[in-house]
Amino acid sequence: MSPNTIESVLQEERLFSPPVNFSKNARIQTWEAYQELYEKARSDPESFWAEIAERELHWFKKWDKVLDWKPPFAQWFVGGQLNLCYNCLDRHLDGDRRDKPALIWEGEPGDCRIITYAQLHREVCEMANALKHLGVRKGDRVGIYLPMIPEAAIAMLACARIGAPHTVVFGGFSAEALKDRLLDANAKVLITADGGWRKEEIVHLKQQVDKALADDKVPSIEHVIVVRRTGHPIHIEPGRDLWWDDLQEEASDQCPAEPMDSEDPAFILYTSGTTGKPKGVVHTTGGYNLYTHITTQWVFDLQENDVFWCTADVGWITGHSYIVYGPLSNGATILMYEGAPRPSNPGCLWDLVEKHRVTIFYTAPTAIRLFIKMGEELPKARDLSSLRLLGTVGEPINPSAWMWYHRVIGGERCPIVDTWWQTETGGIMITPLPGVTKTKPGSATFPFPGIIADVVDLDGNPVGENQGGYLVIKYPWPSMIRTVYKNPDRYRSTYWENIPPKNGEYMYFTGDGARRDRDGYLWVMGRIDDVINVAGHRLGTMEVESALVSHPAVAEAAVVGKPSELKGEEIIAFITLEDSYVPSEELKKELKNRVVEEIGALARPEDIQFCEALPKTRSGKIVRRLLRSLAAGEEVSGDTSTLEDRSVLDKLRNV
Ligand code: WT7
Repeated sequence: MSPNTIESVLQEERLFSPPVNFSKNARIQTWEAYQELYEKARSDPESFWAEIAERELHWFKKWDKVLDWKPPFAQWFVGGQLNLCYNCLDRHLDGDRRDKPALIWEGEPGDCRIITYAQLHREVCEMANALKHLGVRKGDRVGIYLPMIPEAAIAMLACARIGAPHTVVFGGFSAEALKDRLLDANAKVLITADGGWRKEEIVHLKQQVDKALADDKVPSIEHVIVVRRTGHPIHIEPGRDLWWDDLQEEASDQCPAEPMDSEDPAFILYTSGTTGKPKGVVHTTGGYNLYTHITTQWVFDLQENDVFWCTADVGWITGHSYIVYGPLSNGATILMYEGAPRPSNPGCLWDLVEKHRVTIFYTAPTAIRLFIKMGEELPKARDLSSLRLLGTVGEPINPSAWMWYHRVIGGERCPIVDTWWQTETGGIMITPLPGVTKTKPGSATFPFPGIIADVVDLDGNPVGENQGGYLVIKYPWPSMIRTVYKNPDRYRSTYWENIPPKNGEYMYFTGDGARRDRDGYLWVMGRIDDVINVAGHRLGTMEVESALVSHPAVAEAAVVGKPSELKGEEIIAFITLEDSYVPSEELKKELKNRVVEEIGALARPEDIQFCEALPKTRSGKIVRRLLRSLAAGEEVSGDTSTLEDRSVLDKLRNV
């Protein structure tokens, strides 16, 4: 949580009304309409959600019960049957949407594909049949480790079609991180590519896969499906590895969508927590489909001719919910881009907005700060007049970045939706509605209809106006996490036991600090736990520390986040060494590489500080708060009386 952010948002008084022209044509047009929806959802949540489910989704069989809430376990649309892939594809094939582009894709080298709903349906059916042919059955897990190419969406939808929960692993994760996730999920098949293009270099995905699976380290994997993307030579393991295009050629394009129970798992997505290895967040079919569908429609004010571009990677929840499932369930056109801004083409994103007439653009504050740094000449040199709505997600946005986004990208005419949510929430929870909400730069404003959010103290009592507290959600919602895969105890203790239930009311613990201002606006300030947010990516301190102590030189490691202008936070590691080792630049480099190998480049520490001892309490707990202040170059303030040895602190100051 960056102190700069908190300070500046406290001074934020600017208010931006939705442009009249925007509101006039919006799906939700007035503040009263929002309030009515909100009130209806609050007073009778079950009929609120049932009506939307009936109207917006296709069900093979209607549910018997809308919500079964046995805290902390919720089930939605119990007894109902549907298929996520069917809702995203098949139901759009009857009318005009059949030949509408579902997916516009641009590769980094400049190759481009436009795939209509009918074509996407065909390719998904072929891959679904290929998976079945390889023995994947309903309920089996399939790993996906792909660059941002159409096959990523096709693979996800193919899994959904046959009821095999996918677990997508971000292509930037290392072999080690991939192995951990595949092992935990017990995946039967892995879908990958020879490589992907990023900043004009090949990302060697298949090489990582070979490393992850070497010596039968993931015994559950029977086959690896390889997409031909970069075409460079790779190792093919006979009997195990198969080419995607060969499979597709052999497979039939007829594949009925499997009717799934509403509560059948749709996918598992791993995310970092405060302790232990990443946890497998389980999302189920009906509630997830419904909530991502309706939030896409209302938050992004989706209209038939929109071209929707969410710049996230499909390896994160943002890509699941707002590249693939939410927009396609609505029959929208999405844009997908493989590459990233790079020295030879720093304005590539704006070229794509201009070329494909993008209307809705959804990105992260860290990206916006990079755009600012690259200079406004780049966007100014392109025609961005097609844009009508902007969004941000992933971390608090500093008001100055918000203002730049508004002025330079939005031409002062596009509303901005600052959307707060998490991997666990499945969809957007706190957000403006663009035709309705007056926005304040840096505030995610108000909860979506059906979401009861509050800011409380550790006893669960609401705190006062402008008081900082813990952000909680007080009632179940359709796309909430159902459990931690294979670990319901961890689900219970992480999300439901930090704050005790009050009068039988359970509170979902978000891990974020927040405050509500005098106008009722919510200001999310960032994680209050040991989770670091680096460029919108969530990393647990424990994971990085485990990677560091796996090196023989390291006795103890403590990792903290340091505020960073570009990335939000960057990682600083404090290390004590085993006796026979001495600090050196060489060793620093080695330790950084160790983290990259164990997790991925996104976790590489910005700096490593060697020290004699770490500050600990008498019970032996590392006091990260002090290290955070030190890393940030601040005065170490607050209580230091619980330290076991106060001289440790003085020595640290002199490092
Ligand atoms: C954490 C969730 C779900 C989107 C991508 C990240 C932070 C997310 C905002 C926002 C302030 C935000 C929170 C949250 N966060 N959006 N609009 N304003 N903070 O998903 O990896 O599960 O991380 O991202 O700290 O807890 P995630």
